[in-house]
Parts: sequence; structure tokens; C-alpha cells
Amino acid sequence: MLWDFHFNLPTSIEFGNGKVKNIGKRAKELGGKKALIITDKGLAQTGILEKITQSLDQEGVNYIVYDEISPNPKDVDCESAYQQFKNENINLLIGLGGGSSMDTAKAIGTLFTHGGELRERYGVNLLEREIPPLICIPTTSGTGSEVTRGSVITDTVTKQKEAILDLKIAPKLALVDPELTLTLPKSITAATGMDALTHAIEAYTCKVAQPLSDALGLYAIELIAKYLPLAVENGHDLEARKNMLLGSLVAGIAFDNTDLGAVHAMANHLEDSMILHMEWRILSFFHMYLNLIFLQIQKSTP
Ligand SMILES: [Fe+2]
Repeated sequence: MLWDFHFNLPTSIEFGNGKVKNIGKRAKELGGKKALIITDKGLAQTGILEKITQSLDQEGVNYIVYDEISPNPKDVDCESAYQQFKNENINLLIGLGGGSSMDTAKAIGTLFTHGGELRERYGVNLLEREIPPLICIPTTSGTGSEVTRGSVITDTVTKQKEAILDLKIAPKLALVDPELTLTLPKSITAATGMDALTHAIEAYTCKVAQPLSDALGLYAIELIAKYLPLAVENGHDLEARKNMLLGSLVAGIAFDNTDLGAVHAMANHLEDSMILHMEWRILSFFHMYLNLIFLQIQKSTP
């Protein structure tokens, strides 16, 4: 029996090797005159950022680079970035990196169009206006944030992870280039890949799953189960990298239209209690490892 459901596809996806070079054209098509590129210091020192800035230069799109992103983005960092750039006539955002950079881009965008403090915006569908057009360029195969309407932010007052969930912060375009993931270290490949696998399994098994999320969840599980060991074994295996990036993206679309489950609920709760006691850098891996532990516990529970 087919049941009623609702499914959103708010983001255009351009997927393929070398696609990052199209960023200038795509930025122009979205009306970009001055972009804010949101990334981290590690990526800013690689050739990846240069590819992006060259392409923007070719198309005459101005830009500013903000590279202060840290793992598990904090409310105060997003607010200070907004204060720094609010008078710069930014009309396009580019989130480059893992989930932290992309989620921060969504949060800064929220402040651009709403002002105030981020904690006034946590919740589901509470935004009044769309953020400026956002292009997301993932460099890990993990969160799927390039195709979701979610931004997870750590609140420094409550010491908890909070979320803005709203189609008004969904990226306009995901520019997904597997070549950007070729240099990811084994540990990050494994940890982010297990996070993506957990997203796929939970999207498929959660109570609000529906036909389209089931199809996507199953496909993502198949891709990740096959290609994650290959990507960890040989990071330069482009075929494995390509399929992992596709798997995390497909899992992202699936869970964004359904929900996650007990594994993420337990992992997120434990992360909240650890925020007080752990360094941010160590905590950034915690999400992935906790998911893995709870997935194992759930599997072995009769
Ligand atoms: Fe996750």
C-alpha cells in the first residue's frame, strides 16, 4: 500500500570530477556580485581555494575569504563573522569544507537576513526570510549538509548542540567534486564515512520513512558499504571517492526528508554532556565515533 508523503528537493546538484571550476559561472548565474567564502584555515592553504578564487576572478565575481571555521561551529563565531561582514554588500555565500563550514555558512546567512542572535532562530521552520543564495562545496563524504535544510550550531551558553531546520537555509546549489576528497586522511575518511552510513541506515529505519527516502537510504547503504573500505584502503582510488561522495549526498537527501534515529539521539546527547569537558578538536571526531559505537550496540541488542 502506498501512503501519503511529502518530499523536498530544494537544492540543484552538479556532480562530477573537476566541477569546482564552474563555481564562477554558477555564482554569476545566481546573481553573485560579491561572495563570502566560508572555510577553514587548513583548506585555505590548499590549492582547492585557489581553484575557486581563480574561477570567480575569471567571471568578475568579487569575494572575501573567511577561514576561521572550527569543528562544531559555535554561535559566537557565526555572530562575530556576521558583525565583521554585514556592511560588505555580500550577496552570495559559498560554504567550502565539511559539515562545519557548510553549517556555518547557513547560520551566517540566517544572520544576514534576520540579524539578532542565532539562539532566536533555533527550531523548525521559524525563519521569516530566505538567506542569500548559498553554494555548498563539500570536501568530505559525511554530513550531506550540501543538500540539507539543517545547520547544527553549538550554543556556548547552554553548551548544547542546537539546530536551525528550515528550507529557507537550504543551499541553492551543491557543487560536488570527488577530486576534492582525494587528499582526505584515512582517519577522517573512515569517521565521516561511518557518519554517512549511519544517516542512511537511520533514514531507512526511522518511523517516518517513506517510499522515496527508503529508496535513497537503501541505495546509500549499498554505495557506502561497498566503497568506504576501498576509499579508506586507498585514498587515491577516485572511483571509490566518487561513490562515497555520492553515498553521503544521497543519505543527506534521505534523512533531510525523514529523520534520524536512536543512534544519533544517543550520540548527540552524549556529545552535549562532553562539550563542557573536551577540546573542540577532539569533540569533532566524537560524533562519528559515538554513532559507530551506538550502531554496534543497537545491532547486538535483541
Ligand atoms: Fe551525523
